[in-house]
Amino acid sequence: EAHELCKEFVLSKKVMNEVIERLTKEIKLGLAKATHDKATVKCFVTYVQDFPSGQERGKYLALDLGGTNFRVLMIELKSQTDVKIISKSFGISKELMTGPGQMLFDFIAECLSKFCTEHNVDKKKEIPLGFTFSFPLMQQGLDRGILKVWTKGFICSGVVGQDVVQLLDEAIQRRNEIKIKIVAIINDTVGTLMACAFYKCNCRIGLIVGTGTNACYVEKTQNAEMFEANHERTPGGKEHMIINSEWGAFGDNGVIDFLRTPFDKQVDEGSHNPGRQIYEKCISGLFLGELVRLILVDLMQKGAIFANQESHSIQEKGKFLTRFVSEIETDISGAFDYTDCVLNEIGIRNASDKDKACLRYICQAVSTRAAQLTACGLVCLINKMDVKDVAIAIDGSVYRHHPRFHDMLYINMKRLLQKDIEFQLILSEDGSGRGAALIAAAATNSKMNSK
Ligand code: BG6
Ligand code: GLC
Repeated sequence: EAHELCKEFVLSKKVMNEVIERLTKEIKLGLAKATHDKATVKCFVTYVQDFPSGQERGKYLALDLGGTNFRVLMIELKSQTDVKIISKSFGISKELMTGPGQMLFDFIAECLSKFCTEHNVDKKKEIPLGFTFSFPLMQQGLDRGILKVWTKGFICSGVVGQDVVQLLDEAIQRRNEIKIKIVAIINDTVGTLMACAFYKCNCRIGLIVGTGTNACYVEKTQNAEMFEANHERTPGGKEHMIINSEWGAFGDNGVIDFLRTPFDKQVDEGSHNPGRQIYEKCISGLFLGELVRLILVDLMQKGAIFANQESHSIQEKGKFLTRFVSEIETDISGAFDYTDCVLNEIGIRNASDKDKACLRYICQAVSTRAAQLTACGLVCLINKMDVKDVAIAIDGSVYRHHPRFHDMLYINMKRLLQKDIEFQLILSEDGSGRGAALIAAAATNSKMNSK
């Protein structure tokens, strides 16, 4: 029965090639001025046009909002190999995620203040700060960005349509405790790419597979029409622009409906943002566990798994964590040690080995499709950039913790790419720290140079 249900999750090479083709089309629509407004994959310009030189030095603050944790960081770039990072995580409550925007920004400013006090940061010195804000942002400069729409469960009022840098700045002013200069606002994919490009020069893509999924890549500036339209081309203007694809929204116009299952539709309907972030909902951590849960509920109703067992937690939305998927798949064949722990956590006491194997099969089906779809996205970007050797910087809880995600991504990319293309998948450490600091460093230096 489970095999029958999960059949739909298996993607053939033909389907994957179709996905690549469709995504390529959507990306072009996002880049072009004439179609950008209506496009689903927005391809926002980031105003990041330089890679780190390796010479960046200095002390910076950074904020990281949009992943599992909200963090405040202090980064000291001492040399290419010596980077000191101190950070502190703060929980963002449901109330903060769904309340008024001002409350959220006041909280961020408060955390920043506390952090600076704890670490004896000179409050009179204007410290440069890089703000990693991982949501769809229409940037109007390196330090100015308008939130287009919230994703990943955030729905704070009064922020969409506003310049997020200004909102944060105002919150900092309201507290009137510290002097901070927000010099850059960046997406987590961009931080991830930069952190890796600091020491790996062929790095051209930043990928996140975490709570959400997204990728940024290096595009020719002349193709970034939304930038070209607003900036006069100067002689010697920079050749490249990093594009924040916001590919999570791929499919919001129905173009991947051909591969979605009834479970995908259920996940979407139960989410904070129905009809939006359709590709993301097939791939990222906020949704993988829920997909597995819905399949389980269906099978339980049919009496095909966990017969005569009751689990209240399985019936409740969000109770099957994506962490469980990674844990269950960590068990090697025959063993069920991790699976037993998970079953215990969800209150199923007497599962048979057959049930456990079936549960593992479902997890594998869902995570394999996620990796296959991610592979399609990366192949699409590599083909678009037309490069022969490229490193991809990756971060996010799914990529980090899932035991097979890296391998599945690699194998599927190999299947889909031309034979002569070399690529490396690299775990990028602390993009929102290192990456944000590098961009902040470049921003402060170029300001100094132009004075
Ligand atoms: C972190 C990065 O490690 O990964 C964040 O520093 C990013 O900037 C995050 O948002 C994504 O992963 P997750 O799983 O926390 O959403
Ligand atoms: C969501 C956000 C995007 C972010 C991604 C990964 O898709 O919209 O900006 O990069 O999650 O965190």
